Amino acid sequence: MAKGRKNGLYEGISEELSTLMRSGWADTERHGLEPDEQAPYAARRRAALSARFPGERLVIPSGNLKTRSNDDTYPFRAYSGYVHMTGDQARDGALVLEPRADGGHDAYCYQLPRDGRDTDEFWIGYTAELWMGRRRTLAESEVVLGLACRDVRTIVEDLAASGVPTRIVRGIDPALEAAVTTDEERDVELDGTLSELRLVKDEWEIGEMRKAVDSTVRGFTDCVGELSRAVASSERWIEGTFFRRARLEGNHVGYGSICAAGEHATIMHWTNNDGPVRPGELLLLDAGVETHSLYTADVTRTLPINGAFSPVQRQVYDAVYEAQEAGMAAVKPGAPYRDFHEASQRHLTARLVEWGFIEGPVDRAYELGLQRRFTMAGTGHMLGLDVHDCAQARTEEYVDGVLEPGMVLTVEPGLYFQPDDLTVPEEWRGIGVRIEDDLLVTDDGHENLSAGLPRSSAEVESWMARFAG
Ligand code: GLY
Ligand code: MN
Ligand code: MN
Repeated sequence: MAKGRKNGLYEGISEELSTLMRSGWADTERHGLEPDEQAPYAARRRAALSARFPGERLVIPSGNLKTRSNDDTYPFRAYSGYVHMTGDQARDGALVLEPRADGGHDAYCYQLPRDGRDTDEFWIGYTAELWMGRRRTLAESEVVLGLACRDVRTIVEDLAASGVPTRIVRGIDPALEAAVTTDEERDVELDGTLSELRLVKDEWEIGEMRKAVDSTVRGFTDCVGELSRAVASSERWIEGTFFRRARLEGNHVGYGSICAAGEHATIMHWTNNDGPVRPGELLLLDAGVETHSLYTADVTRTLPINGAFSPVQRQVYDAVYEAQEAGMAAVKPGAPYRDFHEASQRHLTARLVEWGFIEGPVDRAYELGLQRRFTMAGTGHMLGLDVHDCAQARTEEYVDGVLEPGMVLTVEPGLYFQPDDLTVPEEWRGIGVRIEDDLLVTDDGHENLSAGLPRSSAEVESWMARFAG
């Protein structure tokens, strides 16, 4: 008897069933495949990585399926460093850069290839190909990725074979991590370098960012068109509306959509999205489509649900808008990364002092960080394969670095007046406003990739008058 699924239905498999399952299948090898258009870009990224670590073996895993319960798994999303260096998104894989004696590295993409139909592997178990869908053969992967591919089932053996100094990205594939002997500090450095190599996007990535943002703009327009249905149901209607666009045009949403009506807008990570949508209140929608290639947008608009801002809502909104204008003006090549943050935050600090919510003078309040009671978060971050992209980059390369053409970042000031904040007048309580756009640093300034959505309070109102359903 072959070993079978122990799911209560059957525990053993007869030789007859095994023989039956293994026979009678057509040859489905895919011929005439073309290399992925990203392949030459991924090759250049690997060359840049190779140059940073001469003489060392680098292991960059893609990650594994995660169990949700029993035989149910979460949707798989490959580690961004692996995706960037290979263009591949398969689970259980790893990119290995093997140092060559004459300098440089040879790259091997270890893959879980499709199972032959001459063993029971292809059909037994819930992760088997017959249950989860066809995988590529190694030969197919070599064509698509433009990379030498090997069977991941031999990787532990291959990595054990020689005493080459090795680094691995930790926290992605525990079994692979256990199979190599590495130094934690040096591994962290590898992860950091992978982040830093994503700071400047190549031209193919910029094209993907445009696709992500364009789909996101359509998703926001969908949501405005569905406002009356949201009013009749809940924030979930907005979440579902945006999600439909993300799944239709891309892979997924790039992060949990924040569909925050009324006082929920003051909760930075509001993703329950189960509250009411009431005319007279604001809807803060922070959402981004992730493309099929896994690049994500990250856009926020704050909308008056009935189509017109109240005087207080407008006052807050316009202050945030002006702070965003000030921040965006500071996004240009050669400018310190911190400048746009400071420009936005100083503007908001000045308004908060003027309104009497924090004690001036402005410079003193800013230095003490008093505005943070109401601004809460930083003003932006790098954007790309991860919503908070390049997060492992060294401080001197990112936060203390300088903007360069090809960087993509968000500028997203906000003001948040908590519903229980006794330091502000009652009618301000529960108002949260954020405006978030995705900017590409260009040779002479920046391009706002999300300019397809209105930003000023007047533009938002006329847009809603056209599209609100
Ligand atoms: N949506 C997450 C952020 O804006 O950073
Ligand atoms: Mn956001
Ligand atoms: Mn953001």
